[in-house]
Amino acid sequence: MSAGIQQDIDLSPYNSFGVSARAAWFMALEEREDVELAREFAARHGLPMLVLGEGSNILFVKDFPGLVLQVANRGMALEDAEAVTVQAGENWHDFVTQCLKSGLYGLENLALIPGKAGAAPVQNIGAYGAELEQFLLSVEVCDLRTGQWQSLSREQCEFAYRSSLFKRAGLSAGRSGEAQWLIFSLTLSLSRQFTPNLSYGALAEVFSDKAEATPQAVFDAVCAIRRSKLPDPAELGNAGSFFKNPLISAERYHELQQQYPGIPAFAAEPGLVKVPAAWLLEQAGWKGKRRGQAGVHDKHALVLVNHGGASGEDIYLLAQDMSNSVLQRFGIALQPEVRIL
Ligand code: EPU
Repeated sequence: MSAGIQQDIDLSPYNSFGVSARAAWFMALEEREDVELAREFAARHGLPMLVLGEGSNILFVKDFPGLVLQVANRGMALEDAEAVTVQAGENWHDFVTQCLKSGLYGLENLALIPGKAGAAPVQNIGAYGAELEQFLLSVEVCDLRTGQWQSLSREQCEFAYRSSLFKRAGLSAGRSGEAQWLIFSLTLSLSRQFTPNLSYGALAEVFSDKAEATPQAVFDAVCAIRRSKLPDPAELGNAGSFFKNPLISAERYHELQQQYPGIPAFAAEPGLVKVPAAWLLEQAGWKGKRRGQAGVHDKHALVLVNHGGASGEDIYLLAQDMSNSVLQRFGIALQPEVRIL
């Protein structure tokens, strides 16, 4: 057995919900060579592998019977604005902060998103009118099934709203969690020239005077908006938005508008409307609700929280009741954004 592989590990420090679950095996990956060791070990023992970053978008409903790979490689190359590289094990927000300090602009709207850099492409992280795919050039990956390393271009990552090739591979693996892709580093194209992205309503409000929208001011405003609405996982276990914002037909939206004149909407592809899941859930009475130690955040109806000691099952059952009630009331099926294992 490799010295780096540990047996029977408690995963509660490794998921932002802070729920208890055990990994049969656990290994931190610091270098490319570690990946081969992990593959050999898993193959020898017939174990499924699960790639974990900071566990900020995952809900463990039961123990994981295989080998958990914690991405722990570090380093950033910030010299060339057109090819900024970050290793997957770096914290995303630290990377955004370092880019800002180095005069590399573009990522300000994505400040304070929890998780590691390597997790960013998995769900094509997005916030306040920006999405990772706008900046991403390529991703260095290992295909864990074959051990082959390759560089995937943005197109090959098949990005969509909160989705990618990597996310879809995880979904098709189902609850077993078997991983196909290990993301090792990202290369992004940033800019030395700052163009503020104030397309999101809440940011446009802060910067009614555009001249005030400096890179630092936009970064600070994004952090302040997030802190005012979203609980800090270090204080209250959560994984951000639990469900995706559903896309419905424009026709269905107009029907709902007759009944609920206040229903908000975001623009989406032609013929479709994106409705905030948080609004649907708040209308259905979920905001601030609590069931035992599992609950819904009192400032945001899309955020499930662990008040301390809730199990993954408690949170999962609450989420199911929430989505069922939205289905019954609005005829809209909510899809989880968080990965459920
Ligand atoms: N709203 C309510 N009740 C609430 C909260 C929000 O009715 O309790 C309504 C309001 O009408 C508000 C609208 O929902 O205008 C949208 O709320 P918010 O601006 O907070 O954004 P969101 O759609 O809930 C999405 C992302 C967030 C991202 C924000 C900002 C998804 C699933 N979530 O949330 O991402 O930070 O926009 O861009 O797309 C995450 O992925 O974990 C995440 C936090």
